[in-house]
Amino acid sequence: MEFRDVIRKRRSTRRYTGKPVEREKLQAAMELALLAPSSKNTRSTRLMAVTNLEKVHALGRLRDWGSSLLEEAGAAIIILGDKEASPMWEINAALMANTLQLALVDEGLASCWVHVGEYRTLQDDPESQRSEDYVKEIVPEIPAEYRVLAVISIGYADYTPKPLPEYEGPERILFAE
Ligand SMILES: Cc1cc2nc3c(=O)[nH]c(=O)nc-3n(C[C@H](O)[C@H](O)[C@H](O)COP(=O)(O)O)c2cc1C
Repeated sequence: MEFRDVIRKRRSTRRYTGKPVEREKLQAAMELALLAPSSKNTRSTRLMAVTNLEKVHALGRLRDWGSSLLEEAGAAIIILGDKEASPMWEINAALMANTLQLALVDEGLASCWVHVGEYRTLQDDPESQRSEDYVKEIVPEIPAEYRVLAVISIGYADYTPKPLPEYEGPERILFAE
């Protein structure tokens, strides 16, 4: 696929057909994502694919809002950061997550970022379990010392998302004198 088409085609997609996601496609997208840059080349980001559907769907309860789309996803990739490796671990991880989402488009897959970070499982209860701890409970293979930035929900799109609103170039693209 043309580079510009990959970028245009990537949309946050929250409904999937249920068609199984091939492991080889996840592997190929993750290998490309590893080429994302990192501060001082610290390579602090780790990716963990989850293909067991019971676990993928359980990840949908990592928050009580904005994460239930994982309950019908065909796979998930957890974006992990080694905070000891770089104080910029979150930025490094975000760059890799975005590269991964573009690589997934190139594999014919749709995805959506589900944020974890500092969120709690219950939006209105600051004492509720941390979403990161919940994710680590569902996927115990995650090394305790790694932080969880996000879970990327993956599947075959069940619909074609509407195009993004019109280009607002004059507001957001500036040229200095
Ligand atoms: C940092 C970040 C966090 C996000 N968190 C969520 C989320 O938790 N749940 C969700 O459904 N979408 C989430 N999204 C997707 C955004 O809602 C989406 O990118 C935005 O609405 C623009 O739509 P588009 O991705 O289709 O262009 C997140 C995106 C980013 C970049």
